[in-house]
Amino acid sequence: MRILVTGGTGFIGSHTAAELLNAGYDVVIADNLCNSSPEVIDRIQDVTGKRPVFYEADIRDRAAMERIFRENEIGAVIHFAGLKAVGESVQIPLTYYENNIAGTVTLCQVMEQAGCHVFVFSSSATVYGMTNPVPFREDMPTSATNPYGWTKRMLEQILTDETVAHPEWSVVLLRYFNPIGAHPSGLLGENPNGIPNNLFPYIAKVATGALPRLNVFGNDYDTPDGTGVRDYIHVVDLAKGHLMALEYAFNHKGAEAINLGTGKGTSVLELVHAFEKASSVSIPYVIAPRRAGDIATCYADTEKAAKLLNWHAQFGVDDMCRDGWNYMVKREGK
Ligand code: NAD
Ligand code: UFG
Repeated sequence: MRILVTGGTGFIGSHTAAELLNAGYDVVIADNLCNSSPEVIDRIQDVTGKRPVFYEADIRDRAAMERIFRENEIGAVIHFAGLKAVGESVQIPLTYYENNIAGTVTLCQVMEQAGCHVFVFSSSATVYGMTNPVPFREDMPTSATNPYGWTKRMLEQILTDETVAHPEWSVVLLRYFNPIGAHPSGLLGENPNGIPNNLFPYIAKVATGALPRLNVFGNDYDTPDGTGVRDYIHVVDLAKGHLMALEYAFNHKGAEAINLGTGKGTSVLELVHAFEKASSVSIPYVIAPRRAGDIATCYADTEKAAKLLNWHAQFGVDDMCRDGWNYMVKREGK
């Protein structure tokens, strides 16, 4: 069975491609490399002993998508390709709507044409918005507070509408919580250009000395230590969740939203201390004002993933820090 992985040279896509290859699937990757590099294909090969087929292609490019489906018998699509920086999405909303929404619509039209109807989509816990109580359950109302979040919320709707109109479609909307860490080999991971927006890569860059200190955005939240609480999930656990979602999609029709998280909350300071323990490097930090748009606490209700996918996260925050640090050490020679 041949699986098309869009965004497959990116952080989560590369780990999922490796898990797919290890499980015996053939993998075709389509990525325009706007946020990743082609060397990732070599790294996937190093990790699995198998080389995915790679197309440098944009999901908005209909002809390129048609060519991929013409040249490969694609059984299902796992769709990671998209822009993901919340702040940037506020600055350039049209770019986000075009890339994420128009791109996904084009991809689905080409799938329809090719008779491929099995689709696993990267959604996000961001669709739970600002007002739901934790833990977040899939049947809670969804919303968004920024254009990036709206692309996820709108695509969930668009894909659900497609399954209503065309019952042969099977779509799993995976709502990721906070993926961090790296492949245990140290060969795949996340290393954003410039100053990271997200906590884990920021801490990692402070640890290597690339950044002087961490700004902790608020210590007056209603949480045990006052700092924001999130559900961090090891990227390898997340990748494995996609394989279970794929199996589910092959055996069911319709659209299903499913959380992928651990169900456990970790505060900013707890993550800092776990990273210090894993790396034996101290992480200087200062308390800074709250970041606009942040909520105090976010973690998943994991029951639906357990019931429908038989999937549970295996790794804890200490494993995530160990593997994330190992990747940085290998990559930067620190
Ligand atoms: P990433 O940026 O590492 O990977 C995305 C990949 O998509 C990149 O390799 C990029 O080059 C590619 N891409 C972007 N636009 C494209 C286009 N038009 N055509 C072809 N390729 C394109 O991001 P990631 O962290 O691996 O995230 C993957 C998906 O998961 C994204 O859709 C993201 O919104 C979603 N998600 C991520 C997180 C997170 O915290 N990392 C959380 C929730 C959801
Ligand atoms: N934080 C800091 N300092 C930083 C960066 C973050 O204190 O330099 C804090 C934040 O205030 C928050 C926590 O660390 O309390 C986590 O922040 P991240 O930016 O790492 O993650 P978010 O939960 O804000 O958002 C991420 C992605 C979203 C996605 C969401 C749920 O950026 O796109 O996870 O999956 F929707």
